[in-house]
Amino acid sequence: MRAAYHESQGGLDVLRVGELPDPEPGPGDVLVRVKATSMDRVDVYWREGSHGMKLRWPQHVGGRDIAGVVEAVGAQVTSVAPGDRVVASGERTHASLALAPAELTFPLPDGVGFEAGGATPTAGRSAHQALVEKAQIQSGETVLVMAAGSGVGSFGIQIARAMGCRVIATAGSADKRVRAMGVGAELAVDHYNDDIVSAVREATDGRGVDVVLDHVGTPVFAAAVRSLAPEGRFVTCGVTAGHIGELHLGQLFVKGITLMGVGRPDNQRIAATMRGLLAMIGQGQVDPVIAAVYGLDEIAEAHRLMESSDFFGKIVLVP
Ligand SMILES: NC(=O)c1ccc[n+]([C@@H]2O[C@H](COP(=O)([O-])OP(=O)(O)OC[C@H]3O[C@@H](n4cnc5c(N)ncnc54)[C@H](OP(=O)(O)O)[C@@H]3O)[C@@H](O)[C@H]2O)c1
Repeated sequence: MRAAYHESQGGLDVLRVGELPDPEPGPGDVLVRVKATSMDRVDVYWREGSHGMKLRWPQHVGGRDIAGVVEAVGAQVTSVAPGDRVVASGERTHASLALAPAELTFPLPDGVGFEAGGATPTAGRSAHQALVEKAQIQSGETVLVMAAGSGVGSFGIQIARAMGCRVIATAGSADKRVRAMGVGAELAVDHYNDDIVSAVREATDGRGVDVVLDHVGTPVFAAAVRSLAPEGRFVTCGVTAGHIGELHLGQLFVKGITLMGVGRPDNQRIAATMRGLLAMIGQGQVDPVIAAVYGLDEIAEAHRLMESSDFFGKIVLVP
């Protein structure tokens, strides 16, 4: 197979593109010819060796998202067959062939393209798991989505809207704030220069939001907690900009706030979340936002764009 990989950690110059041995499906695996996959922030962490990420294989191939056509299945797999269009969560997906467990391989909904499918599993699933499974958002509630231009944020806004919620978003540039409102936020706040708490209070008649979806961490944590209404829920699925937060315990007990993390759900829970998300996408309620599309040979450009944060939505790779 053709793959983008690196054998050491460091700058963009460690990235290589070349032939690696084809993966062999185990009894419960699906081998997919990858038509589209995507970049996740963690691919940059893996390449850099930051956030405690270690190389997982001598030739480390990044990526976890797959949209493509089933090439072969393991002996125990009956849910999909060669030739099926699928979307899946696997590993080593920045390649022309990739493996996924059958339980995390789903039919690509009719009318949904490979690029949209390849943009979906990791970011979309995390946003859905955080909002629907963990925070249990309800129609009529108000949700604050931090860093709306991220993969997680761009899905989070749309999932909350699809569930009947009002959405306030934050983003670091005027362009991203316009884009956030274009996918369903009714207000977008500058998370570097605006007072998030005041903006939220003004937009909610002083009450605050019912739920905060965060994946930024330290720089926004205090504002996130202070933006919550009584009985509000804070849910995190990432710590892009720092993992330490200062918490005023008085706010927690007086306001009855709940703090939660998305955790590492087992495959059964991930599958249930993916089915819910794919139904929303199939019905057109959620439309994965594609920021840019690169070929495998342009892997360094894809990493560079991810590092810059100068994009809205998901960076897609088409091997
Ligand atoms: N738990 C899981 O399974 C899971 C799954 C997916 C993602 N994640 C994690 O969730 C995070 C987001 O992932 P992603 O792929 O969606 O990220 P992404 O697309 O790379 O977006 C990262 C965002 O972080 C924002 N940001 C960076 N520094 C900031 C700061 N100081 N203040 C405010 N915002 C800041 C940027 O917003 P601006 O440019 O607008 O400032 C950018 O939009 C990552 O940490 C990732 O590892 C976890």
